[in-house]
Amino acid sequence: MSNDLFAQINPPHRLLMGPGPINADPRVLRAMASQLVGQYDPAMTEYMNQVMVLYRQLFRTENRWTMLVDGTSRSGIEAVLISAIRPGDRVLVPVFGRFGHLLCEIARRCRAEVHTIEAAWGDVFTPDQIEDAIKRVKPRLLLTVQGDTSTTMLQPLMELGAICRRHDVLFYTDATASFGGNPLETDAWGLDAVSAGLQKCLGGPSGSAPVTLSSRMEAVIRQRKCVEQGIRTASHQDGEDEMIYSNYFDLGMIMDYWGPERLNHHTEATSMLFAARECARVILEEGLQACIDRHELQGNALLAGIQGMGLAPYGDIRHKMSNVLGVVIPAGIHGEQVRKLLLEDFAIEIGTSFGPLQGKIWRIGTMGYNARKDCVMQTLTALEAVLNRLGFSTVQGAALQAAWDVYAGHEDRA
Ligand SMILES: Cc1ncc(COP(=O)(O)O)c(C=O)c1O
Repeated sequence: MSNDLFAQINPPHRLLMGPGPINADPRVLRAMASQLVGQYDPAMTEYMNQVMVLYRQLFRTENRWTMLVDGTSRSGIEAVLISAIRPGDRVLVPVFGRFGHLLCEIARRCRAEVHTIEAAWGDVFTPDQIEDAIKRVKPRLLLTVQGDTSTTMLQPLMELGAICRRHDVLFYTDATASFGGNPLETDAWGLDAVSAGLQKCLGGPSGSAPVTLSSRMEAVIRQRKCVEQGIRTASHQDGEDEMIYSNYFDLGMIMDYWGPERLNHHTEATSMLFAARECARVILEEGLQACIDRHELQGNALLAGIQGMGLAPYGDIRHKMSNVLGVVIPAGIHGEQVRKLLLEDFAIEIGTSFGPLQGKIWRIGTMGYNARKDCVMQTLTALEAVLNRLGFSTVQGAALQAAWDVYAGHEDRA
């Protein structure tokens, strides 16, 4: 053991086919290995400006404030919520999985009055259900999750922006799990804030959270910052309660750091910024739509293979994310034993599940660098072999043939 302490890091080879993280694109790893430059070196500030331009394209927005929060995806969520929510604000969270509960938990810490509507796990909400709740609750913010990794479902967001405008509600989504692999139109869908992460469809490691803010959201945040500096506004006399209760996650300060003022805040996580820049470059070189199409193709091939094997997908698959599939663990099969054999004998990791789905489904990801035909085919082959070994008989090879059928005619995206 003591010798191991001084051994070089040399992690085992794995094919990561779970709900994220996934194997990082080697280009991203190379970018991260680049030497550091000073925080205000013109090269560094130019990289920061480039990141803003690149992420505007990925978020499909003209928003000026499109930048990185340093930390995992959760830091992006916390930064938006703590900067936007004033104590006592009413917020509405449509919960259809674990990450909806996370939004509630963070909003409560921001001292919001949290209201929820809940869908059965495996389902999503209709726009009418959300509008009805907005009429009833009259929230200041609607907090949504686009793709909830815990259930593998994708909440349609397209119509929610117009609903929010009608009722003067700020509209936020956590797109961590879906960003880059499923359509997201920040401006066209009327989103006021979106946060994401690198470790899913973007093909990077976790540790940087791209965020984008509308001008409406910027105004809300800037007003709070003014109050914090002691300049009370006519509408809010209770200056103390208006303060943003975090320095690190104060998006007003982070804007001033990313903007031309370059006011000192944190020390930018340079290697993560290099990673985020390369993730965006990789996707935009391929073409954002081509990347989304590739995720859809790989997701469909995996689904066909799973069904070809005689397994059932989980939930309402009309609303499944392209990049992660829930698979019902068949009766008589121990889910963890399958995962163990896949890892030990094939070096493939697939995901387990939490909460009400624990022991009931596996979650298999096809995302980012691993949204590839060879990864899908290897995973199906291995899963079929393990299942047969453990007594769940499949028609050998049927899974691969079904997946192959999906690829036929789409060789350019495979
Ligand atoms: C939808 C969603 N939101 C938030 C997170 C939290 O991300 P992180 O672990 O990077 O903080 C995850 C992680 O899986 C996620 O899937």
